[in-house]
Amino acid sequence: MNGAGTAGTMNDAVHVLVVDDEEIVRESLSGWLRKDGYTVQTAPDGRAAVEALQRARWSVVLLDLKMPGMDGLQVLEEARRLRPEAAYVLMTAYATVDTAVAAMKLGAFDYLVKPFDPEELSVLVQRIVAQQELLQENASLRQALKREYGFHDLVSKSPAMQRVFDLARVAARSASTILVLGESGSGKEVLARAVHAESPRAGGPFVAISCAALTETLLESELFGHEKGAFTGAVARRKGKFEAAAGGTLFLDEVGDISPKLQLDLLRVLEERRFQRVGGTESLAADVRVIAATNRDLAKAVADGSFREDLFYRLNVIAVTLPPLRERPEDIPLLVQHFLDRLTKDLARRLDGVSPEAMAALVAHGWPGNVRELRNVLERGAVVAKGNVIQLADLGLPAPDPARAAPPSGDPLPLEEVERRHVADVLSWAGGNVTHAARVLGIDRMTLYNKMKRWGLQRPEQEVAAHARR
Ligand SMILES: Nc1ncnc2c1ncn2[C@@H]1O[C@H](COP(=O)(O)OP(=O)(O)OP(=O)(O)O)[C@@H](O)[C@H]1O
Ligand SMILES: [Mg+2]
Repeated sequence: MNGAGTAGTMNDAVHVLVVDDEEIVRESLSGWLRKDGYTVQTAPDGRAAVEALQRARWSVVLLDLKMPGMDGLQVLEEARRLRPEAAYVLMTAYATVDTAVAAMKLGAFDYLVKPFDPEELSVLVQRIVAQQELLQENASLRQALKREYGFHDLVSKSPAMQRVFDLARVAARSASTILVLGESGSGKEVLARAVHAESPRAGGPFVAISCAALTETLLESELFGHEKGAFTGAVARRKGKFEAAAGGTLFLDEVGDISPKLQLDLLRVLEERRFQRVGGTESLAADVRVIAATNRDLAKAVADGSFREDLFYRLNVIAVTLPPLRERPEDIPLLVQHFLDRLTKDLARRLDGVSPEAMAALVAHGWPGNVRELRNVLERGAVVAKGNVIQLADLGLPAPDPARAAPPSGDPLPLEEVERRHVADVLSWAGGNVTHAARVLGIDRMTLYNKMKRWGLQRPEQEVAAHARR
């Protein structure tokens, strides 16, 4: 009888490879291990061991250190490359601290000094199996968390976001146009990609175009393509995004910014499902599912006449609104974990988490740049942090505004005022450096300039000039 594998694994599912040049050792070790119920195979030398490792997966590899030809350390080096998940135990009759240390450096789990008895081996293998089970449990727990709280690349546990995911799942199955609303950095594009991935068109292309970045003429030809000679510079026929996205999804980002003429063109395509290239006469089928997004208040734009009402209704068949991050603080620890996992991979650097003070500051922060801002702040923290734990100072968050930290006295502030104050704080914290401030806020420079213009916040030159006058 043995107690190994009590945590659940049937021992015969544990595959052990014994590598030793002496037949008597191979035989006695495999005999002991089989008695414990493990599935055992043996290899008489390093080359045979490497072949066995290439052929199959192993939970545990017992490796003799002294062998003719490839010695145990050489095999270990090769084996760790081939099967990093296996646990390696070196066996040596010449126990010196040096070889043991070298083996541990090469990633061995442990070593055994020959001669050892069956009990010693049994206990060690039991310990390895228990640890492997624990690691596997952690990994599947992580997976389960991701499944429960995740929707493709989006993670969230907030009820409001869970409703968004549910709606997005249902919407994905239909062919309807979807309008994604939400502040900058709240995940509109990631959501659009998720809807595409979940839709029957997932096998087709996902094509994104930002409607704000281009002039009317350029955007028109980007969307619909043009015929050769349609305008100066149109030296060849060119396909537009509607053609490029055929069979897939077309993501029209910042749709609230398009000109009246293009609003009309877009309305026509959505109604007729047909379009023409610029300068062309051929009528082409628009085989796309459209997902549009904007961080503007479209209903307001309709009310003030800057956005066509009929187009608004065409786009707004299914509206999905992403709540801003400050309305779902419960997501912050989850997102921190999510981004640190990613950064660990991208930066090939161990990150164990953020300090409690840093987490408190992250949860308390207002996040006008939403999830993108959070990601940028963590990225900065990961780069700056000296140890494996990101500290508050590493995050470079602006000092909390004492006025805001104090319990609310008088009237609560409108959202825009909170945003204006936060932007002003970050700007002064960044010493007026717009690029730097925009990065911390998680918005682009033009967006920041626009906000500054709207609120009459000073540009750096003006601030310097203002200082000089004092
Ligand atoms: N719920 C989420 N889970 C994980 N990552 C997220 C989530 N929401 C946003 N992100 C991250 O934030 C970044 C910004 O998201 P995205 O580009 O979709 O924002 P947006 O709403 O389109 O912003 P903008 O209006 O500025 O274009 C993404 O690259 C992604 O890394
Ligand atoms: Mg976007």
